[in-house]
Formats: sequence, structure tokens, C-alpha cells
Amino acid sequence: MHFEPAQRVKSLPPYLFAEIEKLINEKKAQGVDLVSLSIGDPDLPPPQFVIESFRKEVADLKNHNYSFSQGEPEFRQAVSEWYKKRFHVDLEQNQVIALLGSKEGLANVGRAFVNPSDRVLVPDPAYPVYANGTAILNEGVPVPMPLREDNGFKPDFSTLDESKAKMMFLNYPNNPTGATVDMDFLKEAVDFALDNNIILCYDNAYSEISFDGYIPPSILEVDGAMDVVVEFHSCSKTFNMTGDRIAFAVGNKQIISGLTKIKSQIDSGPPVYVQRVASQALQSYASNEPPEFLKKNNKIYAERRDILVDSLRSMGFECAKPRATFYVWANCKCGSMKFATKLLEVGVAVTPGVGFGVYGEGYVRFSLTQPKERILEACNRIRRTTK
Ligand SMILES: Cc1ncc(COP(=O)(O)O)c(C=O)c1O
Repeated sequence: MHFEPAQRVKSLPPYLFAEIEKLINEKKAQGVDLVSLSIGDPDLPPPQFVIESFRKEVADLKNHNYSFSQGEPEFRQAVSEWYKKRFHVDLEQNQVIALLGSKEGLANVGRAFVNPSDRVLVPDPAYPVYANGTAILNEGVPVPMPLREDNGFKPDFSTLDESKAKMMFLNYPNNPTGATVDMDFLKEAVDFALDNNIILCYDNAYSEISFDGYIPPSILEVDGAMDVVVEFHSCSKTFNMTGDRIAFAVGNKQIISGLTKIKSQIDSGPPVYVQRVASQALQSYASNEPPEFLKKNNKIYAERRDILVDSLRSMGFECAKPRATFYVWANCKCGSMKFATKLLEVGVAVTPGVGFGVYGEGYVRFSLTQPKERILEACNRIRRTTK
């Protein structure tokens, strides 16, 4: 028997990380002690109060029924209060939706608004879900917006062809480049979306992972943003809860309502106990300053970042010290797949930049998701390849 996959599935590009993942698995099977700096999954645990809250909420038998497609009112209230404290942005209940991780929200917003052949402007390099999950799997056409180093890894709106574009993605603090942007850029982005009637999906998954006193903004702080923007946040990186699948989208009512319609036909809200725990996690903010737990977390990432960046620079590689995210984006001065394969030979796994798009070629991404001793070990191993 042969079951032909749907055309939209056949239209997905080849999975460029597959080759490197195969090599990583081979190394692991051979028992090689690999330092894995390739995946964006924190090694640090959720805060203790989150674990205790899970114990309590999961034991409460009232928390095991279906949740509303848009999420529990209490969770949406906690999100609105967090937005007010953190970004000074006011949100009504119908401007918030709970998500089973932001990934599904990013993809489902496409189902709600992208028609076949609609163009979706996606950064390149970028988190692959925007082009694949949102555009291609909804029969839209991803149109790359190059993020060039000489432009601070930001798209240049003056060179974009906005004709027939229905939707645009932006993500700062940025995965994979670690780039951040200022309010002037965010205003330019909102104006571009308003002028061209484009839904602006702003992925703010890394807003809470920042260093050196930098506090990333919300695009919803820009005047007029509520007319065109949906912003995505996640508890995955903020509270080290990647496996708990809890996130939220906020912003324009029509966009939130479209997303709710889609989700009501596909899934229910996240488990009630997870929403209750996430509400308490968000309530740990007293102001726009990160709570103690996050300050500690971010200090650990900053120390790892300094070790890695200083060491890479001493070996002659060019890379910026990111002010946010737990990624270091380094110019590897050759093909990224070739470089990643060479590092694997000495037991270091990194992500080749080309897997994030053609403009990622020539770079590799290091994740700071290993203890500093392991990062030091990785640096020693990389140094051996440069001699
Ligand atoms: C830029 C970006 N957005 C969204 C996500 C998805 O996060 P989650 O689905 O866990 O909320 C990730 C995960 O790595 C990411 O890097």
C-alpha cells in the first residue's frame, strides 16, 4: 500500500538539520562524549516554586477537565497583568489566547489567515516554523527577508516587495543571530505593516532572556501596533518549561479571534493545572524588572556567553556578544555544514546556519544550554581544530 502525502507536505523543503542530526546520533551510538551546543532547550530546571505549584495543582481534581479553546479566564487575566507590569501595555481579555507552546500558535495563525498563494514575509535566517509551518503548510508562499550582518540582522523594509503579502514575521531578541532591536525599528515595522495591510506576527519568545541590564521591549508598546500585531510569548525559555507546553498570543482582537476559531476545531486549551502554574509564574514579576529566579538564570547564561565568545574570538572567529537569547552566532569562515561536521569530529555539536535559511550560510549557532565546564571543554576541543 502507498499513501501519497498531501501536496503541501511534499512542498516542505528538505530538512537540513537531518544530516547533522544523523551524524550526532551516530556519535552518540559510538559512545562519544559529545558536548551538545546545538539545541535550544535549557539545561536549567524550572524554578522551585513552579515545581511545588505543579504538585499542588495537579493534585486538585478540579484541574483535569477540558479548558476553553482561548484558555482559562484566570490565565488570561494573569497574562494581562503581566503585560501591564512588564511592558505597560493594557490588554482586554479578548486580546489574549493561551497556546500549547508558541510553535502551534505561530503555525495556526497561518491557518486562520493565509490563503493559497498568499505571500508570507519571513526573516532569513529564522526559526523554520514561519516558512514551513505557517506559510507552506497553509499553501502560502514564504518570501525571505534577508537578515544581513551589516544591517544588524534586521530586514530592510525599503527593499521589500510587499505586494500580495498577507503576513510578516519578526523575532527579536532573535533566534538564531542573538540580535536585538530598538523602538525606532519596531515603529518602522508597525508603520510598514499598517501601510500595507499586513498582519505582523512578532515572536517575543526570548524577551526574558537578556543581559547587561538590557530589558527587551514588546512591539505592542508602539503606537498603532494593536491594529496589526499579534505578539507571541512562551513560558518555555522564560521559566525553563519547554516540555510543559504553555505559551500565549496577545494583540489585535480580530487576529486573536481568528486563532481561537482555528484552535476550537483542532484542540482545547492547555491543561488547566499547567495554566494555573503558568499564571503563578507570571505573577512572580513585581515590576518590569525580572524576578530573582530570572536574574540568576540570566547571570548563568551571561557567564557562559562570555566564556564562549571570548574563547571563539581568541581563536580568530568573529561573533558578537548577544544582549539577549541564549545563542551565539559565529562567522565560521566556511560552509556551515562543513564546519559543523568538523566540530563533530572533535565531539562538539553545533547547528549549521544554513539550516535556518540561505542567508544563514557561513555561520553556526552555539546554544548556551550546557554548564560552563562543558562550554570550556567545547572551547578546548574547538581550539584543536584550528591548529
Ligand atoms: C524563535 C522561537 N520561537 C518560538 C519557539 C517555540 O517555543 P515553544 O513552542 O516552546 O513556545 C522557539 C523554540 O525554540 C523559538 O526559538
